[in-house]
Amino acid sequence: MIDYIYVNSGREIIGDEAGLDIEKEFDNYAEKIRDIIANLNSNKDKPGHWLQWMNLGYNEETVWYVKEFTAMVEGRFDNLLILGIGGSALGARAISEALLPPYWNLLDKEKRNSFPRIFFLDNIDPDQIQGLLNLLDLKKTLVNVITKSGSTAETMSQFMLIKDKLEAELGDDYRKNIIATTDREMGVLKQLADQEGYKTFYIPDDISGRFSVFSAVGLLPLALVGIDIDEIIQGIKDMDLALKNTDIRHNIAAQNALIHYLMFKEKNISMSVMMPYSNRLKYFPDWYVQLWAESLGKEYDKNGNKVNVGQTPIKAVGATDQHSLLQLLAEGPNNKIVNFIKVKDFDNEVEIPKIFEYTSIGYLGGKTFNRLMESEENSTRISLNDYKRPNVTFILPKIDAYHLGQLFYMFEVQTAIAGELYNIDTFSQTGVEQSKNYTYALMDRVGYEDSAEELKTKLQKCFNN
Ligand code: PA5
Repeated sequence: MIDYIYVNSGREIIGDEAGLDIEKEFDNYAEKIRDIIANLNSNKDKPGHWLQWMNLGYNEETVWYVKEFTAMVEGRFDNLLILGIGGSALGARAISEALLPPYWNLLDKEKRNSFPRIFFLDNIDPDQIQGLLNLLDLKKTLVNVITKSGSTAETMSQFMLIKDKLEAELGDDYRKNIIATTDREMGVLKQLADQEGYKTFYIPDDISGRFSVFSAVGLLPLALVGIDIDEIIQGIKDMDLALKNTDIRHNIAAQNALIHYLMFKEKNISMSVMMPYSNRLKYFPDWYVQLWAESLGKEYDKNGNKVNVGQTPIKAVGATDQHSLLQLLAEGPNNKIVNFIKVKDFDNEVEIPKIFEYTSIGYLGGKTFNRLMESEENSTRISLNDYKRPNVTFILPKIDAYHLGQLFYMFEVQTAIAGELYNIDTFSQTGVEQSKNYTYALMDRVGYEDSAEELKTKLQKCFNN
């Protein structure tokens, strides 16, 4: 199981300015946390609570369909292209980056065991799009278009382009290269999939994008590149069991949620840094940024009071960002908590050769990169403690499908608990929807004409000042 260390956010180590009296706070909040966890678990099956993501570890049907489809297309495609944005891309990207051998797309087919390369197109930059089109042989590319709403402009515009090109190259057969992952009922993608006959996977109701990684949204792309989704599911289940414990002293998601909440409320710690010491986990902070920001950044609480809460999540990776962010973390405003992710055992042990012994870098020779990584992580932790900066550490025994299932699910539960502590609607994203609607208006979508007029005036103001 994943371990969690919180002492470095306590006042014994980092003093009174940013440090909490953690044990006392655990006592103070024991009952509240007990109620929150009990409620989350008792509401998870009720429609309208947006908690269906808590059941994804038990969704055997989806796993079965994903595996069946994966077996059907095995060896047929050289590339897998994911069209999706936000919660429809970030989870699969982070997990595939962590679990596939590094530089996967550069390996030849044999070294990839005939599984496809994987590309995520999660932006609408024309240069990037053209570059990808120049690179990919679309005939050998399986395209998975993923959008819960079925109408997101970024994803659907990409899809229109790729579908057009595929059809031009393959004629009627183009359908064999497309899979749609979307809502069972609503949205244009669902309509198109029915009309055109695309293979379709459904995202269960009551799951917002950022909590959808363990539905077909994430499981299908991961299975298609050969990742063991059964192991992921086992990790989720074991973590779910552990996090059903209503006693805060035995629930790491509740502990970290409470520490972050109290840091924000009482210590002006308005930012949360996610810093794995592993390059394979480099995209995990991207997923965390969306989860933490969209879920907790809210204007109103559930009672309609204007609260404007939410910590700004910041992504980092060790040791690289010791040479960029760390200076600010140590000596800038004391308004950040750092979440370290420590990997206990790397898959490889690589030794630094014992050369240049007569120089000042001679001390490195004969040691391993593993030791160097661990020393750098420990130095950063001790240094932040010296500067009295709050930090917590999650210890991942190793990077594998099982522990990543645990890690992602743990942070989902932590986010849901934090949302309850703030008393906000964790699962809405009104701020994002507003911008989506403005884009529709600016792109002349029918039904958005009034808004388009209003936006023209607002846009003029944006540039005149
Ligand atoms: O968490 C969310 O619901 C959003 O961030 C979505 O993931 C994102 O906006 C993409 O939406 P969709 O899957 O509908 O295209």
